[in-house]
Amino acid sequence: MHAYFKPMSDLIKEIQKRKTFGIISHPDAGKTTLTEKLLLFGGAIQEAGAVKSNKIKKGATSDFMEIERQRGISVATSVLAFEYKNHKINILDTPGHKDFAEDTYRTLTAVDSVIVVIDVAKGVEEQTEKLVQVCRMRNIPMLVFINKLDREGKDAFDLLDEVEQKLGLSVVPLSLPIGMGSDFQGIYNIWEKNIQLFLEEKKQKVGESITFNDIQDTAIDDAIGEKAAATLREELELVESVYPEFDRELYMKGEQQPVFFGSALNNFGVRELLDAFIDIAPMPQPKESDLRVVKPEEKNFTGFVFKIHANMDPKHRDRLAFVKIVSGTFKRNENYLLVREGKKMKFSSPNAFFADKKEVVDESFPGDIVGLHDTGNFRIGDTLTAGEKLQFKGIPSFSPEHFRYINNDDPLKAKQLAKGIDQLMDEGVAQLFTLEMNGRKIIGTVGALQYEVIQYRLEHEYGAKCTYEPIGIHKACWVEADEKSEEFKEFARLKQRFLARDKYNQLVFLADSAFTITMTQEKFPNVKLHFISEFE
Ligand code: G4P
Repeated sequence: MHAYFKPMSDLIKEIQKRKTFGIISHPDAGKTTLTEKLLLFGGAIQEAGAVKSNKIKKGATSDFMEIERQRGISVATSVLAFEYKNHKINILDTPGHKDFAEDTYRTLTAVDSVIVVIDVAKGVEEQTEKLVQVCRMRNIPMLVFINKLDREGKDAFDLLDEVEQKLGLSVVPLSLPIGMGSDFQGIYNIWEKNIQLFLEEKKQKVGESITFNDIQDTAIDDAIGEKAAATLREELELVESVYPEFDRELYMKGEQQPVFFGSALNNFGVRELLDAFIDIAPMPQPKESDLRVVKPEEKNFTGFVFKIHANMDPKHRDRLAFVKIVSGTFKRNENYLLVREGKKMKFSSPNAFFADKKEVVDESFPGDIVGLHDTGNFRIGDTLTAGEKLQFKGIPSFSPEHFRYINNDDPLKAKQLAKGIDQLMDEGVAQLFTLEMNGRKIIGTVGALQYEVIQYRLEHEYGAKCTYEPIGIHKACWVEADEKSEEFKEFARLKQRFLARDKYNQLVFLADSAFTITMTQEKFPNVKLHFISEFE
């Protein structure tokens, strides 16, 4: 043994085993189906259909049973963990429904990479665009999976162009489809240099694969026919001349995105995707805090809360806070510091998540998510450490799309209402703005559905009643300005009816139209307006 040989620490081994990622897509592109197939490979579930879709059915807006069902499922599927080829894979669920987009944005702060699923026929859709934009802002490494190749869809090269243009990505195809829809014959895996044949009768099973060292090999013609083989050769030439070679470093920096084709429903191209993912996707990454960059391999535990879920039993107001471990080993019954409150806390039954259950764990490692029971201490974005007073960069809020005044409808329950609103905002269900002028409260949400959820939950969990009143607001703009300057004072005087504070006491300008925003920006160039709560 070399004199300087030092055995790899157990912590480092655990870190290197882990891959924590999210799957993002527009609803119906195949996220649930793909998740299920990945879990099947990991042996985490035994049969298809085991993963419940957390989709909200159309027309469910006023169906509270549906909302409750949804909440139940979203706890169950929040984190799905499985083992594959000696790796521990954590899939963080991201709701596709646009009314829950804020939830997805926050979850994206806890992933180390993502897989983007695109429907071959529909191409790039609205939710995909929004979510990819958030990933690009954070330079999250992305893999693209083009799904439903068993159906007629867009031409592969047109689709690659569309992905580049609409999503602003730099793609590198690592597989190519051979035919499509009824002519779909299989996939050429550029990464592994083999062809996987699509045999319809072998649906749900992994098809046959043939490996070639040379693309000119006539065995290819025998397998897929001369015409298809000639097309494939031409297309591969095109790939070589048009696209750069895959560069893992660029992928890791979020500057290049490999693309795979397949059919999740037929379990086709999924193993290739998973194998490439295992090879290239990042292990848990360092994270920036207000003091320094925290590395996963540091001995001391740090982590942050990215999601809070209210307990399903309305009589007990305990909640489950989802903590992503950034560094060190998290241990059960150890004292940790909730930095914002300066409060020491201990957790006797932290949960780890698996594909089909959650269980109490003694230890968890960077990349893992632990679920901590909480009676109201945590807020989204909170940092927990072994004692160091550092704070991870917050989780930004985006401007809501809808705004309404919230009024108390039962004067005897004012306290309950205040508490309920406070806790629901901590959970991130919606955003609260308090008008500077008169203290009136305004609730901002991403979707109209949230208003009904809030009203329902305030009544059933807190015994409080509320009503809403319309207010004509277009966007919330977080204000950055020198509050002592004459310019700011003039801005504040003119706009006093529209100034409010958010939950963190940040100043917000509630603009009534896009035109107002433009005019205000022109008139007060030194009063900066941001559409996201966190700015440098
Ligand atoms: P989502 O989570 O992204 O919203 O999508 P999900 O997986 O639920 O898939 C949406 C629909 O697309 C489902 O059909 C699913 O079976 C289908 N699908 C997924 N992958 C493929 C594929 O590779 N090929 C084809 N042809 N279809 C695919 P559904 O009829 O809406 O639901 P279900 O009743 O079949 O569950």
